[in-house]
Amino acid sequence: MDRKTFIKTSCIACTSIGLLSTLIQSCIPVKYVTGNMNTNGILLDIKEFETAKKDFRPYVIVRHDDLQFPICLYRIDDKNYSALLMRCSHQGAELQVSGDMLTCSAHGSEFDKWGKVMQAPASENLRTFPVSLEGGKIFIDLRKKA
Ligand code: FES
Repeated sequence: MDRKTFIKTSCIACTSIGLLSTLIQSCIPVKYVTGNMNTNGILLDIKEFETAKKDFRPYVIVRHDDLQFPICLYRIDDKNYSALLMRCSHQGAELQVSGDMLTCSAHGSEFDKWGKVMQAPASENLRTFPVSLEGGKIFIDLRKKA
């Protein structure tokens, strides 16, 4: 195999692996959870992140009748989570989750999994909530900003 063929074959293989990885990740169904709401916040079981294959979902979406907008809860690692209100900081549309990003179909704003603005027209970061872990449970504190 000459150098040019090797480089071409390698590029095709790398691109295929990247696409396959993206496809596999997008095949994990989104999990919606309600959790248990109390006056201070929402309590979830940490097992909500486990998949049938015993690995972890990158995020779950918390929907509850008492929430005006859902909360996207990202699992950063086994001790760190990021809870984001899925309300666009531009004009208040509900956001969509796309991998590590939240996107707004109204005018195209994008936010990272920490709620930081990545794409205008939004200029303010998303509302975030403190998250704590205890005894296999995750608590999203709705009383204050993270
Ligand atoms: S409401 Fe989200 S970008 Fe305008």
